[in-house]
Amino acid sequence: MSDPMKMKVFSGTISKPMAEQICETLDMQLGNALVDRFDDGEVKVQIRENVRGAHVFIVNSTQPPAENLEDMTLLVDAAKRSSAGSITLVIPYLGYNRQDRKDRPRAPISAKVLANKISAMRVDRLLLFELHSEVTAGFFDDAIAVDHLYGSLITVPFLKTHLDLNNLVVASTDAGGVPRARAYAKLLGIKKVVVFDKVRGDGGAVDRDSIMIIGDVKDQNLLFVDDMIDTSGTLIADVDAATKAGAQRIFAVATHGVFSKNAIERLKESPIERVIVTDSFYHSQERLAPLAGKLTVLPCAPTLGKAMRRIHEGRSLSTMFL
Ligand code: R5P
Repeated sequence: MSDPMKMKVFSGTISKPMAEQICETLDMQLGNALVDRFDDGEVKVQIRENVRGAHVFIVNSTQPPAENLEDMTLLVDAAKRSSAGSITLVIPYLGYNRQDRKDRPRAPISAKVLANKISAMRVDRLLLFELHSEVTAGFFDDAIAVDHLYGSLITVPFLKTHLDLNNLVVASTDAGGVPRARAYAKLLGIKKVVVFDKVRGDGGAVDRDSIMIIGDVKDQNLLFVDDMIDTSGTLIADVDAATKAGAQRIFAVATHGVFSKNAIERLKESPIERVIVTDSFYHSQERLAPLAGKLTVLPCAPTLGKAMRRIHEGRSLSTMFL
């Protein structure tokens, strides 16, 4: 009988800490690969062990800078040229995912462009994590199997044990996020969902005067739910509106903590009591230090590791949702 296909895990630069944690949960060593830069800044990659016939998992977020995507592209090519038996890309944070439609004249559909690039890598499978819109999971070539996990797998168990869910109302930061907010409410056993409807300008900036709260927030404690906190402009505008409308305690949960521009300072100064995200988008501990005591960053590794093991063994992922 032939040996079962071996499982090997590699990662680009940005996701190395997470890939190491994943390997710990899988009780295996991270694969030996050089992922570096040439003197001129170009990406330099070499897989330094035998992967012939193996099931190669490449873990990498495609957060900026663009070299992170390049790390992933070149690792895939190296694995293919080294006769890997099968390749699964694990992308904890898939960049450009919000740009999923042509919302201005003469604009690209950037999420589709990135999906085309990834499809062109001809990997066997993708494991994606909390896409901004479900629809983008269908942007990839049909020959590639796509599994999509939700951040709530990680955040909900934490929320259940660390927040007083009595008298808590789930708040969606916009109309598009209502299905996500409802899913959280159901998982948390919360009945009420309120919506902070709004108009966005160019680049997604919130028109604060347009915010309309659908539902009653007076004297309520709110848990804002979103897929990501980027500049925090959306969340802070909603928190201001909620406070003016008489909301009491405020908490926020999002899968991806992008924290661009001055998000960290704004969150620190805001009346939000706790912010909960996962580590899908890498930040150094120093960068997040100002939010100590307010921010909780939950590790993706146990959940992604579990999913990777199941994928490797051909077992169902849906049972992870139960
Ligand atoms: C918007 O549709 C998203 O779900 C987020 O609300 C938004 O991208 C967050 O970005 P920011 O923190 O920059 O407002």
